[in-house]
Amino acid sequence: MKKIVIAIDGFSSNGKSTMAKSLAKEIGYIYIDSGAMYRAITLYCIQEGFFENDTLNEDKLQNQIDNIKIEFKLNKTSGLPETYLNGVNVEANIRSMEVSSKVSIVSAIPFVRRAIVALLEKMGKEKGIVMDGRDIGTVVFPNAEMKVFVTAKAEIRAQRRFDELRSKGDNKTTYEEVLENLKSRDYMDQTRKESPLVQAEDAILLDNSYMTIDEQMQWLIDKFKQITTN
Ligand code: DC
Repeated sequence: MKKIVIAIDGFSSNGKSTMAKSLAKEIGYIYIDSGAMYRAITLYCIQEGFFENDTLNEDKLQNQIDNIKIEFKLNKTSGLPETYLNGVNVEANIRSMEVSSKVSIVSAIPFVRRAIVALLEKMGKEKGIVMDGRDIGTVVFPNAEMKVFVTAKAEIRAQRRFDELRSKGDNKTTYEEVLENLKSRDYMDQTRKESPLVQAEDAILLDNSYMTIDEQMQWLIDKFKQITTN
């Protein structure tokens, strides 16, 4: 069967990555989390002291951008890819609230987007990938054979993210903080000048507010089969 590119875009914390990971596993494709790359650069900026509160020194980042190496390596136990920043596993650190609250600033910068888009394009050359993000179907792979745009109600997404943080041992962050962060990221993702979050014309809409993981998976497999057998 010929391999295709599957682009899954949509709002923050709507379960995109979970569904993209499961879909990739099910159909034997490689999963690529593009958001992890923006998060890794954000973590780098925090670690290097490029932020003063919420203001980023873009010049300092621009000077260093070519020295930032982001890779994905497979965790042999979980079978899932993990993010490495300059050789260090940062998979857990890039999911912190601090990174989440600053990543929209970094991902709105044109030179950051250009660098990451170039890396993502390379990763998808051989096809057989499921990539999730905000601009995959519109900018990175405008010719992707399957495009899905995922959405869900903000309150439901916040609850899911909150449950995830608690399950990972974060007992500090409140539900209200998560909801606030999510709404402000939605706003910034949709209104930024460079590659704003928008549904590609040929993307299929998936509102998973009231869907179970299994229902969602079935929906995706059905679409995949329709596309690859036509
Ligand atoms: O999917 P995520 O929440 O891990 O993404 C983190 C941030 O990165 C999100 O606020 C928007 C940005 N992002 C982006 O601008 N373009 C992408 N392709 C993926 C993520």
